[in-house]
Amino acid sequence: MLVSPSLLSADFGNLNRDLEMINCSEADMLHLDVMDGVFVPNISFGFPVMKYVQKVCHKPLDVHLMIVEPQKFVSEVRDCGAEIMNVHYEACTHLNRTVQQIKAAGMKAGVTLNPATPVCMLRDIISELDLVLLMSVNPGFGGQKFIHGTLRKLADLRALIAETGSKALVEIDGGVNLETGKLLAGAGADILVAGNYVFSAEDPAAAIHGLKQL
Ligand code: DX5
Ligand code: ZN
Repeated sequence: MLVSPSLLSADFGNLNRDLEMINCSEADMLHLDVMDGVFVPNISFGFPVMKYVQKVCHKPLDVHLMIVEPQKFVSEVRDCGAEIMNVHYEACTHLNRTVQQIKAAGMKAGVTLNPATPVCMLRDIISELDLVLLMSVNPGFGGQKFIHGTLRKLADLRALIAETGSKALVEIDGGVNLETGKLLAGAGADILVAGNYVFSAEDPAAAIHGLKQL
């Protein structure tokens, strides 16, 4: 299993320590949650923090934009060193154009679905995508309870990927722990995001190791 710990749950007063832990861990990438207080009812961090993270973190950056009009910030996200730029389906009127812009900027393109958005909405874009991110909580906050309907949705997504021959990886975000992670692994997830489960653990690197084994 690929694991993408979410920095949202890190201790920002000890950012260097937490980034060093990520560097030394088996994490495959680092998940960065950008929130604007409009698309989601919360504000997190933005480009200055991400630029600092880029300097210290040696892992690929998996950026999840929970903002309106994410197409306005493609070059800024690229300049923060993002390897993957995830935009929400619900935030993009011209999703095909936005995906093209992300790829033209040299990043991998990911599209994220809120819990209430069905997988079939991706049918006409999925062959262009490097990644699909399924939200297994309503976005905006760390530490929420996993929505179990995500497992059926994951099955729908695997079927769509098989049918279309898409190369997209499937990432799941929200309420992931060892228990829900096991269910997601069984249902065909490729990447697990985990915030609270990793950063509230007594030994965060060991928590990452546990998820890696799934
Ligand atoms: C929620 C964010 C998540 C969040 C996950 O809106 O997109 O990435 O950090 O946190 P946990 O793993 O604590 O649910
Ligand atoms: Zn996220």
